[in-house]
Amino acid sequence: MAAMYSAPGKLILAGEHAVVYGQPAIAMPLQALRATVSAEAAAIGAGLTVHAPDLGAVWRLRAHAPLSDLAERALRFLDVAEPDATLTISSAIPIASGMGSGAAVGAALVRALAGLAGRELDAAAVSGLVYESERAFHGTPSGIDNTVVAYERPIIFQRQPAGPPAITPLAVGGPWHFLVADTGVASETRAVVGDLRRRWQADPAHYEALFASVGGLVRRIEAGLLGGDGAALGGLLNENQELLRTMGVSSADLDRLVAAALAAGAWGAKLSGGGWGGVMLALVERRAAAAVAKELLAAGATRVWPTELAGSGA
Ligand code: PMV
Repeated sequence: MAAMYSAPGKLILAGEHAVVYGQPAIAMPLQALRATVSAEAAAIGAGLTVHAPDLGAVWRLRAHAPLSDLAERALRFLDVAEPDATLTISSAIPIASGMGSGAAVGAALVRALAGLAGRELDAAAVSGLVYESERAFHGTPSGIDNTVVAYERPIIFQRQPAGPPAITPLAVGGPWHFLVADTGVASETRAVVGDLRRRWQADPAHYEALFASVGGLVRRIEAGLLGGDGAALGGLLNENQELLRTMGVSSADLDRLVAAALAAGAWGAKLSGGGWGGVMLALVERRAAAAVAKELLAAGATRVWPTELAGSGA
């Protein structure tokens, strides 16, 4: 019998991109969309094989691929030898969509390797290992993806000038209802983050003012999530979207879905994650959810997922 390990996808509610530059951001796990790794024993001496049938890929250790490097790092951290095992990855999280697919696959892989060694790693250890791997292959990640995926709870995340980031559990009123809609356009976060970095280097004062405005909004959104005023909270999400557009990380497809959601009665709507493609979110009154979902699909969304944020978490 194969043992199963998993980790959820995630949604950034507010503060993406500015979070890379030290501003706070809010993220929640998407428990219904998970990456799963099944682990089966292999013949003695067979070593470790990692299968990703969805990608048509197979890795062994020392393959210098992101997942084989992460597996080596996890085995070193656990201080165990290469296991004789076959790991098979499957994921319900769309790739390159701003939903944390890479971090979730990484976290599930680390949990599987710990499980094979008869151990369980805490969230901080899983998060740290996945962060190192994202850093090696994605440039300058803020660390919010690996954190929310490993801790599996809504958080406010803020990098610190020195030392580890501040990770605060999010206090929530609600329940808040969101729709997540996919543009169907794959977008590599690394490219968007790199492009924004070049523009920031050319005009730091302009971009730092935008990032600071996002940071201020995130603190107001944090307070809004505790209360019950949906229209006010939606307005703050709309302001965040305007700042993201000014930063140059939205796209015509994202803008069209945001406009469709607002026209159909959503309280607020914005892109979520890296931008240029991937997903957007809409904050909706529960009774408006079906109508907004219908309009999102009519406006070209390839998929729409409902999700809820309430009391103790998602
Ligand atoms: O697109 P995702 O799911 O990787 O989210 C990226 C979030 C950014 O703030 C744009 C980048 C980061 O590292 O925080």
